[in-house]
Amino acid sequence: MRKRMIAGNWKMNKTFSEAIVLAQGLAKELEGGTGDVDVVVAPPAVNLKGVAEVIEKEEAPFALSAQNVYWEEAGAYTGETAPNMLEAVGATYCIIGHSERRDYFGETDEDINKKAKALMAHGIVPISCCGESLEIREAGTHVEFVVDQIKKDTAGLEITDPSKYVIAYEPIWAIGTGKTATADDAQEVCGAIRKTLVEIFGEETAAGIRILYGGSANPSNIAGFLEKEDVDGALVGGASLKADGFADMVHSAMA
Ligand code: PGA
Repeated sequence: MRKRMIAGNWKMNKTFSEAIVLAQGLAKELEGGTGDVDVVVAPPAVNLKGVAEVIEKEEAPFALSAQNVYWEEAGAYTGETAPNMLEAVGATYCIIGHSERRDYFGETDEDINKKAKALMAHGIVPISCCGESLEIREAGTHVEFVVDQIKKDTAGLEITDPSKYVIAYEPIWAIGTGKTATADDAQEVCGAIRKTLVEIFGEETAAGIRILYGGSANPSNIAGFLEKEDVDGALVGGASLKADGFADMVHSAMA
């Protein structure tokens, strides 16, 4: 049985002190626990340690994620962060392949695959993003496009514990636009992702991998997505920046 997951991608928002306030606010909102739902927050890299300290001090029921990683262990890679550095500050998850990284920073599926392998070698759970542009959606080739991304992003991965690899389907046209995909749109692609995972990893592993929906998910629309068979949670951007709203989404997932 897959545990639901609600993950907040703070993107490039919040200074150090603001991140602390948000993490403390969320700890308070979730004081009663999160039941069977895994909750994850992904602050900017410079704020990871500060948020880790809040989690520890408040015994907060959420885990820490980075938003990016480099696949090398150490060396002359100015501006990059290695997996063991994330591990050392308490990050147990890392978002990879977000469409903003693909579009603005030229990341390829091959890069994303290397990042997944590097993270998994350190026991950090990748939250690997995929999703199509509006142009591809309008051409009607979105399912093939995403299936191809999944094949490339997972090439050669050895998944022994399926709860330790997470996929986020985020149609680019729905990210930060207020334009959500319908729950049926999400299920169409998430179902195709699940089938592809069955082909690659077999039934049992595929049945244990969480697939999240992302793209303008908010407290009012989350329940509809979660009803769908192959949608196991959400990767939330804008709506994760308010502790009460994000906690509402966690509570919907617990229902
Ligand atoms: P959004 O972002 O919820 O603001 O659309 C989601 C994401 O990009 O992860």
